[in-house]
Amino acid sequence: MLEISEDGRTWILSGPTSSYALHVTEHQELVHLHWGARIALADAEALAVRPLPEYWPFESPLDGREEYPVEGGPRFTRPALSVRTDERRGTEWTFERYEADGDELRIRFRDAGLTVTLHYRIRGDVVERWVTLENQGPVIEVLRADSATWTLPHRDGWRLSQLHGRWAAESRLVRSDLTYGEKVIGSRRGHTGHQHLPWVALDSDATEESGEVYGCALGWSGSWRIAVAQLPDARVQITGGAGHDDSGLLRLAAGESFTTPVFAGLWSDGGFGGASRAWHAYQRAYVIPDAGRDRPVLFNSWEATEFDISEEQQRALAQRAAEMGVELFVVDDGWFGARTSDRAGLGDWTPNPDRFPGGLKPLADHVHGLGMQFGIWVEPEMVNPDSELYRAHPDWVQYQPGRKRTEFRNQLVLNLAREDVQEYLWEQLDGLLSSAPIDYVKWDFNRCFTDAGWPGDPYPQRLWVDHVHALYALFDRLRAAHPGVAFESCSGGGGRIDLGVLSRTDQVWTSDNTDPLDRLAIQEGFSQIHPARVMAAWVTDSPNVMLNGRISSLRFRFVSAMAGVLGVGGDLTKWTAEELAEARDWVSLYKEIRPLVQRGDLYRLRPPRGGLSAVQYVLGDEAVVLAWLQAQSYGEPVPALRLRGLDPTASYECRETGEVYRGAVLLHHGLRTGLRGDLDAAVIRLRRI
Ligand code: DGJ
Repeated sequence: MLEISEDGRTWILSGPTSSYALHVTEHQELVHLHWGARIALADAEALAVRPLPEYWPFESPLDGREEYPVEGGPRFTRPALSVRTDERRGTEWTFERYEADGDELRIRFRDAGLTVTLHYRIRGDVVERWVTLENQGPVIEVLRADSATWTLPHRDGWRLSQLHGRWAAESRLVRSDLTYGEKVIGSRRGHTGHQHLPWVALDSDATEESGEVYGCALGWSGSWRIAVAQLPDARVQITGGAGHDDSGLLRLAAGESFTTPVFAGLWSDGGFGGASRAWHAYQRAYVIPDAGRDRPVLFNSWEATEFDISEEQQRALAQRAAEMGVELFVVDDGWFGARTSDRAGLGDWTPNPDRFPGGLKPLADHVHGLGMQFGIWVEPEMVNPDSELYRAHPDWVQYQPGRKRTEFRNQLVLNLAREDVQEYLWEQLDGLLSSAPIDYVKWDFNRCFTDAGWPGDPYPQRLWVDHVHALYALFDRLRAAHPGVAFESCSGGGGRIDLGVLSRTDQVWTSDNTDPLDRLAIQEGFSQIHPARVMAAWVTDSPNVMLNGRISSLRFRFVSAMAGVLGVGGDLTKWTAEELAEARDWVSLYKEIRPLVQRGDLYRLRPPRGGLSAVQYVLGDEAVVLAWLQAQSYGEPVPALRLRGLDPTASYECRETGEVYRGAVLLHHGLRTGLRGDLDAAVIRLRRI
């Protein structure tokens, strides 16, 4: 809901539990009034006339109060907007007007030829913010155009939560006290990156299930930056947007415009768990395409075969996968061009004639005949120098003239800002999807930008932004032309996970780390912001040959992967008949609990920190608990799990044992899991009776 004061200078957006209020002063300052518990318009108006605290001459009364600090004037904080023309630098705007459109508010300011429009939209308790720049004057260079600056209320001390990582160790949660100065996270790599998810949360005294939590998440799949600043008077502001520094984002000629990505903010007083559930509900309702449809159980061939693939071998895997109850069979890397290793073939998106003499259609038909959907792997933004594409178009890659072209994994990045490259990729991918009945595309991205040059272009810096826009446009065009095809965002595991890519893909590859124990921590971090509905998780072989040699039971591997979108990625031709039969039972159990996992409310009951950990999903009258015991020490009894989200006055029947429990007992005294020893795991289903 959006309410506006009579004078049209104070606005308040309210969700079910929260409000966000702002005001434009007579001095053309757009000041922040409130973000937190729900308040009334009259409260916002009272805040708008509240006198400012005294400030010293070395501080600015604007710092820490503005909705979108621009460069220039009496400001010392990080500017969200930094622009220049040949004559002038900075911005001195005047308020033009506002536009209200349902739950969306647009506030327009003008500085000579530049119009700056700040957009606000409330969806549930999530406030979406973004900015549009339109130029009608001389050419403007945009050095920085963040999506938003968020201002937190005064509290005695703030704690910062972030999700950090690296390849095979993504999205791990870390919390630390915020101190004076700035904490900056981001990516200078051209993609979202494994190192940080574009999300932060701030709290002062929250627990998993209580207390205020402020969260901000950016919807951008290229380089980005989020700066969390504790100012000299202890105020906290969070500024974020596309691009990693202020050295130039793009140039706007007369008649051109730029729209920043969305930076979404959420206030919750339900602790970290409440905040996560609100983020999940928001993404399922407004971000993820077709989120009401559950994702199928998939098989992916990568860990089973790597590059050594053939049609016959894929048919054998498909046969076993189908018998196990798998619903989607995905052929990973190695099916195209001269791709028999990572040295060649990227860029040539036609089936390798030695491996697939009849193209992909015979295999796709076979897979469909087995009752499964058929998917393939692609990495369209890349090229191997050893490829037909590169031999024909060596200038289609990002490169700096006169410098070496840096290779990672023997590949270069195509310059997607070029229209000829965009058209080539469209033709290749559209042709591919039309050539065989393909239901699913795993879209990978396996190296960062390093030589982001564009010889001959008057403003090559723009390729950082234009690459992402071209990627999004390609997804949009492919989805429109092939509406039945689902897409997975992968980037060497979890290197491209953000609200931007999630608005165009159906699920993400969480991490190349498929070790079921490591995964618990990765999944815990992932769940802070994103729902299980998009979190792909595979059961692979034991010992885990890719990473650590760890041996774990099929039970432990399955229960770990069942916390997300279940997949299987082991070499099924080597699994015993007993293992295949056990796997079939787990897949069938997953299908039963899938609506709860993929659409239910998630409660993190205990974090994965060595002993017992567990998550619980609740949907309607049903709940399911997934519990893992890493190690039992000293023969200590394993603690009971206090459940959440149940009706204390109701009774619940355990589907595994038939036992009946009172809701209040489960909530206050807990559920005994029966887990023992090392690497044990259980799935416990409860139904209200
Ligand atoms: C990286 C991905 O994360 C893997 O799952 C696999 O698809 C390989 N790329 C293939 O090259």
